[in-house]
Amino acid sequence: MPNSTRSDGDTWTITTSVGFTALLVAAARAVETERPDALAQDPYARVFLEAAGDPRAVALADAGNGAGNPMAATRHLGVRTRYFDDFTRDAVAAGIQQVVILAAGLDSRAHRLDLPTGTIVYELDQPEVLTFKQEALATHGTTPAAGLRHVPVDLRNDWPAALRSAGFDGAMPTAWLVEGLLPYLPAAAQSLLFERIVALSAPGSRVAVEGQVGPLDLDGFRAITEKYSREGNPLGDFDVTALFVADEDRADPAEFLVAQGWTVTRAGNPVELGRSYGVRDTVPADAELLSGAIGYFTAALHD
Ligand SMILES: C[S@@+](CC[C@H](N)C(=O)[O-])C[C@H]1O[C@@H](n2cnc3c(N)ncnc32)[C@H](O)[C@@H]1O
Repeated sequence: MPNSTRSDGDTWTITTSVGFTALLVAAARAVETERPDALAQDPYARVFLEAAGDPRAVALADAGNGAGNPMAATRHLGVRTRYFDDFTRDAVAAGIQQVVILAAGLDSRAHRLDLPTGTIVYELDQPEVLTFKQEALATHGTTPAAGLRHVPVDLRNDWPAALRSAGFDGAMPTAWLVEGLLPYLPAAAQSLLFERIVALSAPGSRVAVEGQVGPLDLDGFRAITEKYSREGNPLGDFDVTALFVADEDRADPAEFLVAQGWTVTRAGNPVELGRSYGVRDTVPADAELLSGAIGYFTAALHD
């Protein structure tokens, strides 16, 4: 099934358009979980794949990191998961009790990270994605994690109002997660997202971000995808890069946060981040240059 074209105010389910990318990340987390040297454990990744019943996503998980997996950079998502897991664990260990996951997709940290009692996790995503997630976990018999609140929103709209209505307390420090979201937002919505994070953050707040540090070479990404799926592409003509909003004039969120008084700690691109975990094959060698356009950082607003 080819992608639908992106447009202002477009919506999706877990198997269509941008919603399907959440399922693809779950497939990558299933692959990571099943590795003997896994950097992260997500026992819910396969639960979501089974509940969605989408043969493309299941085939992707079954293809593992080997030939035939069109997401040649699958290990990259394991590395990324570990980075945001560590960020979340560190934040709650430092006493932060409010966690906001922007574009949560099938992120199951509220269930799998054993967060301290009293932690409240807000998961924001489009309504049908959150409904799928809730139903899949309920059918599996997973009881809702204490303190988990779903906030169905479009992150291009006024999500702070919905977040506050769900109980978010702007006087408490917050840990924000921005993982796998920014390429799907127009540049203006990305800038507004960080302005809102700053406006909602009490001293002591932190944010972890997967961002863009250079122009994404979309043709290059497509060429690599094709090369690594020569033996059959389970995704058919579904093209993740076609869902990216190709706004190249994006403001650098790290620079913006520094200007707002936050302290930024950069973790490098996927390959550098992977090396910090001892991973040598985060992306195939011929994709290293491409993945150099992606950068990870955390930022903190000190008391
Ligand atoms: C690649 S997935 C990443 C999900 C999750 N953060 C993870 O890493 O597993 C992208 C997610 O962004 C969400 N998303 C993208 N644009 C959005 C928007 N405008 N409003 C709400 N959610 C959005 C999608 O629904 C999807 O769940």
